[in-house]
Amino acid sequence: MTGIKVTAEAIRAMKGRGEKIAALTAYDCPMTRLLDEAGVPLILVGDSLGMVVLGYPDTTHVTMAEMEHHVRAAARSKPRALLAADLPYHSYETVADAVANAKRLAAAGAEAVKAEGGVEIQEQVRAIVGSGIPFLGHLGMLPQHVIEEGGYHIKGKSEPEHQRLLEDARALVSAGAFAVVLELVTPRVAKELTQQIPIPTIGIGAGPDCDGQVLVTPDLLGMLPWYNLKHVKPKLNAAEQMRAVVKAWKQNVETVKS
Ligand code: KIV
Repeated sequence: MTGIKVTAEAIRAMKGRGEKIAALTAYDCPMTRLLDEAGVPLILVGDSLGMVVLGYPDTTHVTMAEMEHHVRAAARSKPRALLAADLPYHSYETVADAVANAKRLAAAGAEAVKAEGGVEIQEQVRAIVGSGIPFLGHLGMLPQHVIEEGGYHIKGKSEPEHQRLLEDARALVSAGAFAVVLELVTPRVAKELTQQIPIPTIGIGAGPDCDGQVLVTPDLLGMLPWYNLKHVKPKLNAAEQMRAVVKAWKQNVETVKS
């Protein structure tokens, strides 16, 4: 991609050119700026915010006010990347709520919104897109349903799940989504969905054959050593390095004679 502002349409068009999409999450101004300067074309203020920044056990506790606060912070960096944001749990139950809350995130600086689900939120997606806000889908393991589902389970293993994923993906396409995140979908089904739909698939723990990949940035950087994730090997041991730097600095402060 060139130096011009990235739009949802530009992300969608990357699939047609066979260009892979690298997406990452950010929750504040400096991280958004760093990712943008590294050339990442799609930055997501994910509701993973709840776990990786706010200390909640899962994403179901994140509120609209919290999302707005962090979207504003990320948007202050004025990224060239497309800045997308998650509609939090229970914020898009009805079409009216979905549009009103998507507009709140857009007013905070989001240039696209994401919500979890397929057929069951098709009308919400259509209305959000109709209001002029680009929509990013999210299928497979849906973290906002982790409590009902009793954990983070891989999707697409059974034939009914496989068929449901196909139906959901087609519903999102017909409602106007510009791309769809596939989380913890079996690589075989993720590959099939990628071949079947005209919009980009962006995988997380869904194998190598999606049109792009997304990660929670603190997972990529090894900032959260307390969790053992199967789908990502940190490329940096930031937590370890930060501890070492802080210990050395502390020791220096404590031992220097004045
Ligand atoms: O909330 C989030 O960070 C996400 C990504 C994992 C795609 O939805």
